Amino acid sequence: QLCDIGFIGLGVMGKNLTLNLADNGYRIACFDLDQSKVDAILAQDRQEAGSEEVRIHGCRSYTELLAKLKKPHLVILSVPAGEPVDHVCNHLIDAGIGADDIVVDTGNSLWTDSVAREAHYKGKFIFFSTAVSGGEVGARFGPSLMPSGDPYAWTRIKPVWEAIAAKVDADSGKPIESHVPGKPVREGEPCATYIGPVGAGHYVKMVHNGIEYADMQLICEAYHIMRAGLGMQPAEIAETFRQWNQGVLNSYLIEISAEVLDKLDEETGQPLVDLILDRAGQKGTGLWTAVSALQVGSPAQTITQAVFARSISSLKAERLVAADALSGPEAPVLSGQEKDQAVQNLHDALYCSKICAYAQGFQLMAMASKEQGWKLDFAQIAKIWRAGCIIRAVFLQSITQAYEQNDSLANLLLDPFFASQIKSFQGNWRKAVADATLMGIPCAAMSSALNYYDSYRCAVLPANLLQGQRDYFGAHTFERTDKSPGRKFHIEWSQPGQPQVAIKK
Ligand code: 6PG
Repeated sequence: QLCDIGFIGLGVMGKNLTLNLADNGYRIACFDLDQSKVDAILAQDRQEAGSEEVRIHGCRSYTELLAKLKKPHLVILSVPAGEPVDHVCNHLIDAGIGADDIVVDTGNSLWTDSVAREAHYKGKFIFFSTAVSGGEVGARFGPSLMPSGDPYAWTRIKPVWEAIAAKVDADSGKPIESHVPGKPVREGEPCATYIGPVGAGHYVKMVHNGIEYADMQLICEAYHIMRAGLGMQPAEIAETFRQWNQGVLNSYLIEISAEVLDKLDEETGQPLVDLILDRAGQKGTGLWTAVSALQVGSPAQTITQAVFARSISSLKAERLVAADALSGPEAPVLSGQEKDQAVQNLHDALYCSKICAYAQGFQLMAMASKEQGWKLDFAQIAKIWRAGCIIRAVFLQSITQAYEQNDSLANLLLDPFFASQIKSFQGNWRKAVADATLMGIPCAAMSSALNYYDSYRCAVLPANLLQGQRDYFGAHTFERTDKSPGRKFHIEWSQPGQPQVAIKK
């Protein structure tokens, strides 16, 4: 019996996606350059499915993989982004893949690479892309999927992705979860929706990761202020996060942060977090989001600050020198009541900052969508982020509703619900940022979110002076508020050697 799907790349994500596909009734032919990974998944499949049923078939070459598949072939790749994707595509061409066959890239590829690949492989096979979020557990039991590319290919892939995706209860917007091998969730709304032409899905996933960076950094700043400013122990902060997880901040990232803070080191018995080196890594998607925001001209300072926060964290040796050389304020000693209030302020600051980070991400997608002609559907995007992905949160249900009520919403901050939320909580947000600043504890993402909010709601920014400066030294021209829009002016600001004299009326 021929297989339904070919799967190439059996790293953590690939292996788990393959098992998820098998749980959903697909017969898979799989291949990895590392044969031990093929052997490992076959062993795991035997264990999980029982010895009778063979759901996954191992292959030793690309040619064998194609020979084991039904026609037209559907081949899914889970290989590292970049050159490895083309390496596999070229091997598939050599192995005889045909023009009607579909190859789906599920890695964290740069969206422009996906656009180039669709054009490059045209006529050889149909290149389709699907960005995947959810880490290993998501891949195994239900990821959030962001497919994009050829609409015909989508009709073939749709049932597959809808089967393996995370599911959400349509009424409450809450995830329906099962982590039992062989027992996938079949009811509920799948977290998989067609995003648009090729590239759009990976762009949306890239912005998801930018938001993920901001979300993580904001939580880390709240932790830092509690730890270094309020003198709280990791277990106490974990408990605070667990309480926060009961309300508007309920999210996967808050939940796992509490678990990380609670973990004790087996060797020393100390909180493990205190022993983890404070130098953050990054694979690139947050940076790509920041670069894209700069290129498109969409203000996304909280996301960008989150990337810079990782950069400054990596300067560990320099920071150690600077910690001795440079001065700052002493952290004040707070009464119990003051501390409780400071924790409440942080809660509200985190919530308001989070709204701003998402507003920035959605604004960036809107600008890119316009530029690329993608016609992104933001209610659908928010919907498929409600479960399965790393930024899953109850909050995404409110974003879904905001875009369902107004699909041309210019900015999430203008949605009546979010506007009223910030109106209620901004006092404490401002206090949290001010207190951190006075204590000398960095809160770059939180304060940049506040600055984003204050800039966005500012009717007159000092860009008038900036335009004057530009015209002064570079004759760059300026528009006037009292003349028709678009009309450009330039004046001689000063005679050489003479100061400008204010004209009195
Ligand atoms: C996801 C994650 C996943 C991964 C990224 C970010 O949505 O499942 O975003 O794609 O965690 O690679 O990794 P870095 O923090 O290393 O950039």
